Amino acid sequence: MMIIVFIFGLLTSSISAQLTHGQTRVLYETFDGPSLNTTIWNNGYPWGSYYNHRANTTPRQAKITPDGFLNITAMKERTITLGLMTEYGPIDLDYTSGAINSNGKFCMKNGFIDISLRTPQSGSTWPSVFLVPEDGGQVPMLTVMEVFNSRTRYSYGFKYTNDKNEVEEISFVADNIQTSDGIHRYGLDWGYDQITWYYDDKWVNTQTKSDELRQVDNMCLVISLGVGGKSKETPIAPQDYPSVMSVDLLEIWQPKYDGFYKFQNVQTGLLLEINSATHNWGEQVLQWHDNGGDWQIWHVQYAGHGQYRLIVAHSRLGLDSDNWGTDDGTKLIQWPYHSGNNQLWKIQVVDENTPDIVQLINVHTLTNSDAGKMISVPANDVSAGVQLHLWRDLNSNLQKWKMIRL
Ligand SMILES: *[C@@H]1O[C@H](CO)[C@@H](O)[C@H](O)[C@H]1NC(C)=O
Ligand SMILES: *[C@@H]1O[C@H](CO)[C@@H](O)[C@H](O)[C@H]1NC(C)=O
Repeated sequence: MMIIVFIFGLLTSSISAQLTHGQTRVLYETFDGPSLNTTIWNNGYPWGSYYNHRANTTPRQAKITPDGFLNITAMKERTITLGLMTEYGPIDLDYTSGAINSNGKFCMKNGFIDISLRTPQSGSTWPSVFLVPEDGGQVPMLTVMEVFNSRTRYSYGFKYTNDKNEVEEISFVADNIQTSDGIHRYGLDWGYDQITWYYDDKWVNTQTKSDELRQVDNMCLVISLGVGGKSKETPIAPQDYPSVMSVDLLEIWQPKYDGFYKFQNVQTGLLLEINSATHNWGEQVLQWHDNGGDWQIWHVQYAGHGQYRLIVAHSRLGLDSDNWGTDDGTKLIQWPYHSGNNQLWKIQVVDENTPDIVQLINVHTLTNSDAGKMISVPANDVSAGVQLHLWRDLNSNLQKWKMIRL
């Protein structure tokens, strides 16, 4: 197995308003009980009651408490007489702890997970939250958070199969944080292109992994408190046990849009299309009368981090701002998709009462110009056949599009 490790400092700028952009909340789990909600959760790991650490898990160690927590307690007690060979060496299962998983009950292809929890103080425990494929083993794996040894850092990453058919892992460490002094929030967001991690509402890291994310499909959540394992550098002090991990809240959001759409300009009534239905790289994006062509149909896919990509159905090329332009008047074209920010879009609802009317804001312009620029019909020529361009927000209907789901 190949492991690539990076160390990251945490940035301090907050982007909390952006966290769930373009998504809808589908789960709000407060762990209020009276008992674990078995519509969502199973006990143990998806593959059984133990994994690569020293504790066997039992349902009684993962309890909903009267004060509204999921408290998972690790204790010095043997509940299984099995030795185990793991990636961290031979392990005796001489402790008992808890884990829960959503296998077969709540699994997701992409979206945003935000979980609030407090890790136990003992450095010999190994709390973690991760996702694995439904019914299908341990690769690919998306790690929301895991803490081993020190409580002032946490680790996160992505494990996948590389093009040589080897298991490869990217793994990162966020330093200078506290995980056991109270409840903290850990976020993970992913789509077809990007994985983004957050801590306490702040951006931590984004990785673009378009090829590897193709392996990611129905992913189910695991919340676990291990003993030893990756935390094996810290000697286990029996007086530290029982040791409790507390989970307070879990929110899951999923992309609002996924599938094939037409985009109709609110003022002109014309559709976003590719000139003459060509497959040429660099061909113009126009507005034209609805004629039912595939070159007027857009595949809208969640790229990750609140952004979408728009792939035109006939050529499978991406909607692209010409030459990474950021000025007002930058032309729109189709171009082979490369997951660059000039091909990523925020889909912004203008008024919650008309959720199908949106603005399409180019991501590259959001940080590289004085204002975010959006797909606009030029005000000086609104005729059928005019090439569309980017322009700053004028609150004009020429910049608003009705999304028609097919
Ligand atoms: C259990 O979870 C399901 C799915 O989220 C929810 O509809 C139901 O109300 C929950 N049950 C309780 C007792 O909270
Ligand atoms: C569960 O954990 C919370 C937060 O760590 C703690 O305040 C509470 O006492 C625990 N509840 C029980 C019943 O152990």
